[in-house]
Amino acid sequence: MRGVVVLGAAALLAGCQAEPPVKPLTPQQSAALKPADAKLAGLYEQSCKSCHTVTDTGAPLTGDRTRWDQRWAKGEDALLNSAVQGLNGMPAGGQCFACTPDDYRALIRFMAGRDK
Ligand code: HEC
Repeated sequence: MRGVVVLGAAALLAGCQAEPPVKPLTPQQSAALKPADAKLAGLYEQSCKSCHTVTDTGAPLTGDRTRWDQRWAKGEDALLNSAVQGLNGMPAGGQCFACTPDDYRALIRFMAGRDK
């Protein structure tokens, strides 16, 4: 009986190694991230970054999948909709006046830690 439990735990651990563990980021680690694309990085730094790297704003920290995965599960279209229409403390358009829908999609993938 004991052996079965140990084997089960070993199988679970092995399963976790398939993907790197999802760990929370500090605001400093979050603020150090930026989109690889220069245009996108510019848009990000002028708008989303001011809230999405500061815990007190209530915004999910960029790159912190412990805060994003539940939102990501809603689907990209739902997240795009929140970004464009706003959601509680999230202002409509995220204070980005030059962002196209494709820019928002790319920004959301980057911020949710899904662009790799
Ligand atoms: C003024 C602060 C602020 C700015 C600027 C901002 N956000 Fe947010 N954002 C928030 C807050 C607060 C939330 C959490 C809202 C909630 O769930 O109540 C949020 C949540 C989100 C979500 C998750 C929505 C959902 O449905 O779960 C997305 C996507 C998002 N922001 C994208 C962006 C993008 C892209 C930008 C830049 C173009 C941006 N935000 C700029 C404050 C901001």
